Amino acid sequence: MQPNPVNSSDKHSLLVPEGCLQETITSVKHYTDRLFSFRTTRSPTLRFQSGEFVMIGLPGGSKPIFRAYSITSPTWDEELEFYSIKVPDGPLTSKLQKIQIGDSLLIRKKSSGTVVLSTLTPGRNLYMLSTGTGIAPFASLARDPETYTRFKRVVLTHTCRQKAELEYGYHVIESVHTDPLVGEEAKSKLSHVATTTQEDSAVSGRITNLVQSKKLFSILNCPEFNPEDDRVMICGSMALIKDLKTILSNLGFKEGSHREPGTFVVERAFVD
Ligand code: A2P
Repeated sequence: MQPNPVNSSDKHSLLVPEGCLQETITSVKHYTDRLFSFRTTRSPTLRFQSGEFVMIGLPGGSKPIFRAYSITSPTWDEELEFYSIKVPDGPLTSKLQKIQIGDSLLIRKKSSGTVVLSTLTPGRNLYMLSTGTGIAPFASLARDPETYTRFKRVVLTHTCRQKAELEYGYHVIESVHTDPLVGEEAKSKLSHVATTTQEDSAVSGRITNLVQSKKLFSILNCPEFNPEDDRVMICGSMALIKDLKTILSNLGFKEGSHREPGTFVVERAFVD
């Protein structure tokens, strides 16, 4: 790692590792004692596709710790937004959860990820299935006009243990509906299904159970999953990915990649 000096007039003047940008925190919102989101400035050189992640870290110390975070803000936004869990003894999140406006954040310039529109073959309906902080890449995709150009119907499902953990998803949907670029289209095309597993709410149950019992499709008033019409993106824990992969593979869906687009794609929710 080759340290580069940054502008010495910056009050956070520190060494920025090569390939990194130093951004400034512009807002922080705590949703529960386990979940928060934050926004940062965005250098014009940071480009990404909706659904991708970047490596982020905190400056200071000889070797900053970096973790992968999906960018939740849309590609055209002049700031960046991230959604994070707080792990009390987590190497990064134990410190990250204390960040405040004006603090610095290191972001590696190179973005990557699989839950992007180009890894799916054309289809009619897009399902974005998430648990916990796995909603993050879909928050960006739900605000991308291309999502609505490619698909006639878009469904975002978000499953958490408790009702309070669903709040960020409601906030995302509200910001999609009031978005000048996609708001009107999203009101007719985007459905949001929020479910809980350890507390009663309007819809209770794991997404795997809701798919297998067909309850998801009766809520949406649409046909069951089929690989001709439906494309599926998954982001959550390893266990969720494994179970949904089995369900989809049994229905004839094929996993996509950058090399070979398919009818479903997966991304792990990174920090845990
Ligand atoms: P559950 O409460 O039944 O375990 P976590 O916070 O552990 O990452 O879980 C987030 C959500 O994902 C919880 O609602 C949890 O349900 C659900 N979940 C965990 N594992 C699976 C799985 N294998 N299939 C479907 N949902 C899962």
